[in-house]
Amino acid sequence: MANTILIGAQWGDEGKGKVIDFLTEEADVVVRGQGGNNAGHTVIVGTEKFTLHLIPSGIMHPGKRCVIGNGVVLDPVALLKEIDGLLARGVAVTGENLQVSETAHLVMPYHRWLDARRETGEGGVKIGTTKRGIGPTYGDKIARVGLRVCDLMRPEIFQKKLAARIADLPEEALATGEFDAATIAAEYLAAGERLKPFVANTVLSLDAVRKAGSSMLFEGAQGTFLDIDHGTYPYVTSSNTTAGGATTGCGIGPQRMDRVVAVAKAYTTRVGEGPFPAEDQALSDRFHGMGREFGSTTGRARRCGWFDTVMTRFAVVVSGVDTLAVTNLDGLDDLAEVKICVAYDLHGTRLEMPPACIEDWADCTPVFETLPGWQTSTEAVRHYDALPENARRYVERICELSGAPPFLVSVGPARDATIRL
Ligand code: IMP
Repeated sequence: MANTILIGAQWGDEGKGKVIDFLTEEADVVVRGQGGNNAGHTVIVGTEKFTLHLIPSGIMHPGKRCVIGNGVVLDPVALLKEIDGLLARGVAVTGENLQVSETAHLVMPYHRWLDARRETGEGGVKIGTTKRGIGPTYGDKIARVGLRVCDLMRPEIFQKKLAARIADLPEEALATGEFDAATIAAEYLAAGERLKPFVANTVLSLDAVRKAGSSMLFEGAQGTFLDIDHGTYPYVTSSNTTAGGATTGCGIGPQRMDRVVAVAKAYTTRVGEGPFPAEDQALSDRFHGMGREFGSTTGRARRCGWFDTVMTRFAVVVSGVDTLAVTNLDGLDDLAEVKICVAYDLHGTRLEMPPACIEDWADCTPVFETLPGWQTSTEAVRHYDALPENARRYVERICELSGAPPFLVSVGPARDATIRL
């Protein structure tokens, strides 16, 4: 398989875990280059459900190597918990099949506190974050005061840098008594000790993989509209979730990438605050009533709406998407009609692409095209031609309007509930 970048085309939760799991069959190495344990990828193996937050889902495939790249923000305690959880369920995790970049930044306890405070702080914008400390960790990275995995490998340096960061915390944080340098250092350094076998210069190890002719899959976390540059700012995460994030976040030149796959749900969902033009309360109620659309990281009910091709059209442009994977098609199975958002109306002007300002996003109303539903279960369908004609028409129409052809349609959570075109 060629080197593939996989991204989410919407606001995350597109079902990337399953598509990654599927593409991993053809890859030798699976790499993550951004985000942290704010992500949650669900993989169903047989009757067992695995939710991964930091470790690439390739770990579920014996013989594949997984890499956590330099662009990821890493909570070492959370990573160990994830490793231990997998080990307890019989999944092998060793220095052979998991590598962690020595230059990845560390999520510290005070990052989580700052994240939570910003969410409740007066005068600030409530983003609806996962409260995993992601924004403040990337903030420290950009401000050049972050702590990294390589620091964790050198206790003296780690303790010195940690003391400096704690001294710099706001009074209010210090007053909580939660940020004692010695206590944090003890917990983190113990985690660091256990993580040692996994730590590597992943830029060089990935280059060696490439030179050996092995293929790599770069799994994106979150989605295009949570991208710090291209998303619905400020209602975004703090990393580049679009295709470019894979090259900087893993240390690989863009010319080494062969294709970009975007995953889009057959409708749209979002967790957290921020505008959502194609949102539909009745659709949300329907999915929640079916027990669908609850977040895998925070358990929050996702907001739901119709498929929005203004978003996916832009996602295709911004990441140079070659092909689309459409997931959760079965979620629409029993509807008499399905709507597609084909454009936005902004104060009487028709927009084919999203606006820049969040205030304009909030004022956009959807322009819908309505198609007949198929009212037949697609869950057992395994061949594209066997899909009901109206379901095929729907898939083809959303892909046509988005500007990229479909290569895969998912009709259920199980590994085999997948139709390859
Ligand atoms: P943060 O990444 O925790 O800072 O949260 C920023 C925004 O991104 C919030 O709206 C979160 O709900 C959203 N977000 C972060 N990670 C994910 C994800 O994996 N799926 C969906 N939304 C996410």
